[in-house]
Amino acid sequence: MRIGVLASGSGSNLQAILDACASRAIPAQVAVVICNVADAKALQRAEAARVPALLLPHQKVVSREEYDRQVVTALQKHSVDVVCLAGFMRLITPVLLGAYKDRILNIHPSLLPAFPGLHAVRQALAAGVRVSGCTVHVVDEGTDTGPILIQAAVPVLEGDTEETLAARILLQEHRCYPRAVALWAAGRVRIESGRVRVQGAAGRADRTIASPELSD
Ligand code: GAR
Repeated sequence: MRIGVLASGSGSNLQAILDACASRAIPAQVAVVICNVADAKALQRAEAARVPALLLPHQKVVSREEYDRQVVTALQKHSVDVVCLAGFMRLITPVLLGAYKDRILNIHPSLLPAFPGLHAVRQALAAGVRVSGCTVHVVDEGTDTGPILIQAAVPVLEGDTEETLAARILLQEHRCYPRAVALWAAGRVRIESGRVRVQGAAGRADRTIASPELSD
């Protein structure tokens, strides 16, 4: 399986996927990394891993659709089977969605459907939630609304700032995203009636993730 990663920033999730491919925890390879920001660290990470790295700045492209056409051309040139959005801070259009229908994954720093869109960690702090986390989902036409594949929860601690909570969530993202892609690469993910079904996954009804106050 060939993965195309779209990123805009630091690329730490890209790195987690690259590392998991290198260790064969993900039985697949990253075929291309596409980035819309010239100085994004994600590009350096791709180059260090000897993966084709493509800078596609969006500023001079006339429309979102035209931009996505260029993305699709690049993905197809590298024979990409599945697309991973890894901190890609652009809305995607039906052009990309249609070319890779039900084959685009995204990671988002909240327990969706709570706090979709921009500044998810800031939204969670503003709402006063005691538990937050991250979600890997299949992308559909909505903003962060697609079928959920994996989630992990973290506590929100007294005195947390956007930075401290985002860092705690990011650690879980680095566990969740490679795991989700590995399940995908193993052909274990099905979408049925708008829900993800992971084949061969036993239910774990005995496990509870709870906010820390519950164990006092
Ligand atoms: C991650 O926290 C990811 O969940 C978030 O951007 C960060 C990228 O970090 N994505 C979104 O907010 C998308 N709505 P990274 O560049 O180090 O992987």
